[in-house]
Amino acid sequence: MKNDTLIVCPQCHAKFSHIDESHWKCGKCGYSAQVINKIPVFSDYPANLQPSEKIERCAEQGSIWRRFNWKFLEQTAAYLNPEAEVLDIGAGRGDFKTIFARSRYTGLDIYPYPELDLAVDLIKVCPFNEESFDLVVMANVIEHVYDYRTLVGRAAKLLKPGGKLLLTVPFLLKLHQEPVDFHRYTRYALEQLAHENGLTVEVLDGYYNPLAILDEGIGNAWEFGLPKTKGFVRLLTKTGIFISQKISNGLKRVLGNGYLAPAFSDKNPNVLGYHCLFVKESVKR
Ligand SMILES: C[S@@+](CC[C@H](N)C(=O)[O-])C[C@H]1O[C@@H](n2cnc3c(N)ncnc32)[C@H](O)[C@@H]1O
Ligand SMILES: [Zn+2]
Repeated sequence: MKNDTLIVCPQCHAKFSHIDESHWKCGKCGYSAQVINKIPVFSDYPANLQPSEKIERCAEQGSIWRRFNWKFLEQTAAYLNPEAEVLDIGAGRGDFKTIFARSRYTGLDIYPYPELDLAVDLIKVCPFNEESFDLVVMANVIEHVYDYRTLVGRAAKLLKPGGKLLLTVPFLLKLHQEPVDFHRYTRYALEQLAHENGLTVEVLDGYYNPLAILDEGIGNAWEFGLPKTKGFVRLLTKTGIFISQKISNGLKRVLGNGYLAPAFSDKNPNVLGYHCLFVKESVKR
């Protein structure tokens, strides 16, 4: 079921008085939003954005990083009460809706995916009132947003006092969803991002997995190193890559799928990504 209860006119903040198959219209100020894929669209999306395919994901499917993300979201969802309002920004095909099924979920993306409730770039226009949400989720989103500080600022304003902002961000991850891939963040940048928005850090965990890094290197050597070799050297390189993969597979039995640890206490500088939970202070500064 779609959740449109918190959507308001971005111009005058009145509830939309007229909703039909083609438009949402504000009776108070005349603002109108087009309907595409059955959801209201409040801003244009970049022409070079490649819409993602619907892929079934869950705690046991997808990359290891994604599976860890899924569990982090599930743990966070478990503490929400049924009245909690959750906003998922950059929700893609709405994969996480099932995780928040016990609460009230609103999913948005810059692209009008039919699985979501609305399409909007909150940097340009905001069809919500401030302090409307108990949890705002941005999972693997802010690295795709050039002006991420404005977006996170908006998200923080949408939180109720005591509400939480959940971020997952990759760090050691190759370019993806090009050309809409702009940033990687260190733990220091994430901590500062929280503080500059009046948020305190409840969780800032790093995800560490030396063998994922090794596998990435092996795959990269196969794809980009091997074609640069010839003759006997090529044969030797191929054999080396093959043996490295076997060793990596063997080590996985010992080291498993990596681990999460508080980012400021772990000494390992090779972090694959971060899980963050930031809390909005109850008293405004
Ligand atoms: C890597 S996908 C992550 C999708 C989903 N959160 C997940 O973890 O499966 C990044 C998403 O951010 C969306 N996005 C990019 N810029 C955005 C913006 N300014 N506002 C909202 N969504 C945005 C993209 O369209 C894309 O669906
Ligand atoms: Zn209006």
